[in-house]
Amino acid sequence: MKKILLSLAVTTAAFAAPATSAADLDQCSSCHTLEAPAEGRNDHFQQRKGPDLSYAGLKFNQPWLVEWLQNPTAIRPSGIYYGHYAKADASGQDKVDAADLPKHPSFDASEAEDLADALMALKANPGGIEEGAFSGKGRGRFGKLAFTKLRGCKGCHEHAPGEGGVSGPELYTAGKRLQPDFIASFTAHPQAIEPRTWMPTLSMNAKDIQNITAFVLSLSKGDE
Ligand code: HEC
Ligand code: HEC
Repeated sequence: MKKILLSLAVTTAAFAAPATSAADLDQCSSCHTLEAPAEGRNDHFQQRKGPDLSYAGLKFNQPWLVEWLQNPTAIRPSGIYYGHYAKADASGQDKVDAADLPKHPSFDASEAEDLADALMALKANPGGIEEGAFSGKGRGRFGKLAFTKLRGCKGCHEHAPGEGGVSGPELYTAGKRLQPDFIASFTAHPQAIEPRTWMPTLSMNAKDIQNITAFVLSLSKGDE
């Protein structure tokens, strides 16, 4: 009995320790999901205040997190739900006034390091994020054609600032931001990861997925 009590005390102390740091994830939970929800994901997708971070460790590159948390830039040109900010102009094209978008909280370098560490430990795979999904062998030249023309990704995503649709996250920094396996998995079957997302599951063969992933990865290297 004594032994059990002792180990309980140790466990509690281990959990309590990070709460003393100024930069813990509690302050993020008002807008972000941090733990896999017990009953289904995103029942109120359009009401969510921020992206799901419960699988951050399977999605992001740590160096990008450290940088972005110090200097957050808009990833979704139309905010978390484009219907709140995008307005069609005379030609029917969606336009967003960037000044309308809320500013994300920012942090100093050491807070950003702590937060990034904590985020990388969140690995509640919602299903659909597969290790090895990107083979490393895609051909970016074909991926570009698929992205900008054949598969219509460009209708919702920017592949360069100001070039492409604004209803999805920009992808011109995705090579720095996202893990290759996440990009390939999300491209292949978005609903397996975010069941309520309005990104369509497009019919593509395995080569398309590899080529598109190679193209997206090349964007933030300035190859395009
Ligand atoms: C007031 C609401 C709010 C709070 C509080 C908040 N965030 Fe966010 N966060 C957002 C929104 C909205 C976005 C989407 C921004 C965009 O796409 O441009 C976002 C995006 C992010 C992203 C990128 C996610 C992605 O999928 O693209 C990360 C990482 C992140 N937040 C981390 C944090 C951390 C860590 C904290 C706490 C220390 C925090 N946020 C607190 C609203 C919030
Ligand atoms: C009808 C609009 C639409 C089309 C077409 C579309 N997407 Fe998306 N995509 C979205 C939206 C919206 C999200 C954000 C999903 C979310 O936050 O849950 C997204 C998310 C993504 C993400 C994850 C980005 C991140 O930072 O979280 C990737 C990668 C992606 N899309 C790639 C593609 C590729 C590649 C194609 C073409 C094969 C494509 N998308 C076609 C709307 C679209």
